[in-house]
Amino acid sequence: MSERVAIIGAGSWGLGISHVLSQQDCSIKMWEFVAADLERLRQTRNNPDKLADFRLDERVQLTGDLEEAIADTNLIVLAVPAQFMRSVVRQIAAPLSQGRLLVNLAKGIEIGSLKRMSEVILEETGADPENIVTLSGPSHAEEVVKNTPTTVVAASISEKNATRVQELFSVGSFRVYQSDDITGVELGGSLKNIVAIAAGIADGLGMGDNTKGALITRGLAEILRLGLALGARAETFAGLSGLGDLVTTCFSRHSRNRFVGEQIGKGRKLDDILAGMKMVAEGVQTTRSGRELAGRHGVEMPITEEMYQVMFNGRAVDEAAANLMGRELKAEFWN
Ligand SMILES: NC(=O)c1ccc[n+]([C@@H]2O[C@H](COP(=O)([O-])OP(=O)(O)OC[C@H]3O[C@@H](n4cnc5c(N)ncnc54)[C@H](O)[C@@H]3O)[C@@H](O)[C@H]2O)c1
Repeated sequence: MSERVAIIGAGSWGLGISHVLSQQDCSIKMWEFVAADLERLRQTRNNPDKLADFRLDERVQLTGDLEEAIADTNLIVLAVPAQFMRSVVRQIAAPLSQGRLLVNLAKGIEIGSLKRMSEVILEETGADPENIVTLSGPSHAEEVVKNTPTTVVAASISEKNATRVQELFSVGSFRVYQSDDITGVELGGSLKNIVAIAAGIADGLGMGDNTKGALITRGLAEILRLGLALGARAETFAGLSGLGDLVTTCFSRHSRNRFVGEQIGKGRKLDDILAGMKMVAEGVQTTRSGRELAGRHGVEMPITEEMYQVMFNGRAVDEAAANLMGRELKAEFWN
């Protein structure tokens, strides 16, 4: 049976994933929130503010109406940023609860509730938890639409549904693995953005490769500590949604989170940086929610703490770096 897909969010990743799905035998409808962006897509099949050098497949139907987008579909791809996920799924909660497969692409932890995306979707829709799959991993849209070989992981408590997503989204240059650790996959994909901001700051300050290696490794250690406290499996963090995405984001010229850090490192103010950006940098909000989650579970996350202090409490980047380097000496692995 060919799938009838709705992609909710025609941002950078919504467009990117449409390129993958357009290679399969499925119908695709696409919803966009911003009226001007919708109009631009309708007229030109492109939105260079979100994704340069890309043309939306002619078969993709565009709409600004959420209910119309999901009508007569059986698989919904949720591609809005984490902090908008609740308000979007709330508007279509009833139809989403009726057996459709819900595929989350967002990487973030909700401010306030401190919930992961599958938890937010579940809470709002009352859907069967088996019908929620999170697709995550190192997958910058800019490279996906150029058919750059890319690997991601589909995570669900339902092996059957993880397999369904794995098969639908796997095309020549986009290969999907599967996992039953949705907690670990969502945490890895979200928390790596905090470390990417730190890596960007290191870039902005002109620090070297040693520093980046340190941030990636110690960043992974603190992500793992929080993940274990929240019931994730350790090996998930060595996987695509963990180490894979962390390394990619910390080095990538496409990463908005690394970019935000780089600009902070060069001395710019966070508000000015964000005001000049046309796409979300999830790590900024995830620094707030991730830090609070760590506090709630008594988990030490020193890089996250320093990023929070730099972005929201005016701590100087030099002081943050000195704090990280001057911490009490300890064993490499501790809980
Ligand atoms: N861009 C990538 O390459 C990429 C890759 C993997 C995962 N992701 C994740 O996918 C998610 C979406 O990222 P993106 O890059 O597509 O973001 P984006 O900033 O390009 O915007 C995504 C879409 O969100 C919707 N939106 C904007 N404001 C809204 C509002 N107030 N209410 C409801 N919807 C609104 C719009 O439809 C917009 O097109 C993020 O969580 C991101 O981390 C992105």
